[in-house]
Amino acid sequence: MVTASSSRTPCRARISSLATYVPPRVLTNADLEKMVDTSDEWILQRTGIRERHIVEPGVATSDLAAEAARQAIARAGLKPTDIDFIVVGTTTPDMLFPSTACLVQHKIGATRAWGYDLFAACSGFTYALTTAAQMVSNGGSRHALVIGADVMSSIIDYTDRTTCVIFGDGAGAAVVEASGDPDIGIIDFENYIDGSGGESLCMPAGGSLRPASTDTIAQRLHYVKQDGQAVFKFAVRNTEEACRRILQRNNLSAEKIDLLVSHQANRRIILSAAEKLGVPEEKVVINIERFGNTTAATIPLALSDAVDDQRLKRGDLLLMVSVGAGFTVGSLLLKWGLKT
Ligand code: COA
Repeated sequence: MVTASSSRTPCRARISSLATYVPPRVLTNADLEKMVDTSDEWILQRTGIRERHIVEPGVATSDLAAEAARQAIARAGLKPTDIDFIVVGTTTPDMLFPSTACLVQHKIGATRAWGYDLFAACSGFTYALTTAAQMVSNGGSRHALVIGADVMSSIIDYTDRTTCVIFGDGAGAAVVEASGDPDIGIIDFENYIDGSGGESLCMPAGGSLRPASTDTIAQRLHYVKQDGQAVFKFAVRNTEEACRRILQRNNLSAEKIDLLVSHQANRRIILSAAEKLGVPEEKVVINIERFGNTTAATIPLALSDAVDDQRLKRGDLLLMVSVGAGFTVGSLLLKWGLKT
């Protein structure tokens, strides 16, 4: 007989499957040149972005999330009813409530799962993965579903050239389970927040402080507002800092890392942080040119590309890192190895 205590012996959790989804419609830099005073050259040089995917009207975060989730569950060799826990990192839920986790649970038929949304902006996936890994390690979940999904186009002001060129829509999902292999799985995490940076990147209205009103709409306060340079500096410094802390705690030098998968906010942010850390460019995954900043979806989109390109292989030591609004900072160290 399995007792409650024996079934809750801590074990290492791992990502056993991964899947992503982006909506088919592509918004190129040339398209944006027709909408605001910008140029393909400026966007590419300052951000590294060529194009991003955006949804058609009526398509929401839970739709993208459900597409990715169905694939991830199938790739893990599971049925939706095997999932017992869902955590969705998102900044753009379909609505304030019900949660995206509830909407996804219903859409995919994960009738045995409980779950919730997690608001950590661009650290949504890393924080959701941390949460699910803890649940699995402690025996609270057998098959957890971690989702990072955002429809940023729903909160972007397409008359503001300082933000509209950056963001895109997308989703990624991973099934997290106990790792049977001691050499595969999540080793450690390092998460911290700095609420003093809240005003640097926010959506000012639509919450309890400034509920939606004709006035807030007239002032365009339901869109992303950011102090680009402040965010840039914080992101470079803390991408490096979060990586350094987790490496130090695990007695590892940067050379031991096989691949660095950072949140994709700006090509220059990722490369400067990697350089300061001493990780060469060939060990850094950058796919921002095709997707822009999809907030909670960038890391699974980058992981998925790295797997497809065979840059990420079984047994590789992977460092994942994110910086997002809040500010939120997160990093995870893991030995990669999907189920199949
Ligand atoms: N096209 C053309 N010119 C633009 C522009 C655009 N899309 N956006 C801004 N500019 C202009 C500015 O108005 C400014 O003009 P000025 O010198 O005449 O005043 C000039 O370009 C330089 O602006 P600046 O803000 O200094 O540019 P930057 O090099 O810092 O790049 C960001 C701007 C937003 C790309 C950059 O700061 C950034 O990536 N910040 C981090 C944002 C982020 O990561 N957000 C999400 C966090 S998870």
